[in-house]
Amino acid sequence: MDAVELAPESAIRYTSRATSLQPGLSYAESLVPFVGTRTLMKFFVDTADVEEIRDLAATGLLDGVTTNPSLVAKSGRDVFEVLAEICDLVEGPVSGEVTAIEHDGMVTEGRRLRDIADNVMVKVPLTWEGLKACRTLNQAGIQVNVTLCFSPTQALFAAKAGATVVSPFVGRLDDISQDGMALIQDIRTIFDNYEPLTTEILVASIRHPMHVVEAARIGADICTVPPQVMRSLASHPLTDKGLDAFLADWGRTGQNILEQ
Ligand code: G3P
Repeated sequence: MDAVELAPESAIRYTSRATSLQPGLSYAESLVPFVGTRTLMKFFVDTADVEEIRDLAATGLLDGVTTNPSLVAKSGRDVFEVLAEICDLVEGPVSGEVTAIEHDGMVTEGRRLRDIADNVMVKVPLTWEGLKACRTLNQAGIQVNVTLCFSPTQALFAAKAGATVVSPFVGRLDDISQDGMALIQDIRTIFDNYEPLTTEILVASIRHPMHVVEAARIGADICTVPPQVMRSLASHPLTDKGLDAFLADWGRTGQNILEQ
């Protein structure tokens, strides 16, 4: 076969559609057609608790934050103060939600929230008024998260209105015996039919690690995860048990790497 010109390592973007070797191609070669199409799934934390965010941001693994009126109420903080603090801690997008329910009010609130910091992403509900506000805010160059999405058609309209991200709520669908992850699969399939559509799928209302695993299998762009679930994602009892055994064996050798 002809030589394939590989993209520089730093430009290789991971995609759910090239997860295995293609016949006759190396893994890197199999990624070439997909370069620039989709990055590895991003992790946002779903909270307005500044201390939790500070701690998770220190890992360098946090890509953004989502808040909503309930989470701000739970924090007991002033919405402008708490969002400003969060925006200082995190480089990525920080969603702050409007509470007006008609277009003009949403747009005015959205602009005020966006004035807090450049990385504020304005969150609007998936209503007709919210879609109109999304379009207006998008045209003003403001990033928009269209939230409370529970159906594929709602997601289609969010994308059409220029949403930066759309937030389908998987846990709340599971709560009423509907399949939340099936919605994510539907939206992924639909959005993939219309490349170069740029609206990202932000999986919200995540309740447990299997939601995250399924979201990654499907190729969702972002998961927003409660802090306690985020911490559980990197934990495994066999990791702890294995590390204990390694350290016990190592202690018996009397060696110390730092002193050699
Ligand atoms: O931020 C929106 C979403 O993640 C809410 O989750 O657990 O209240 O359904 P939950």
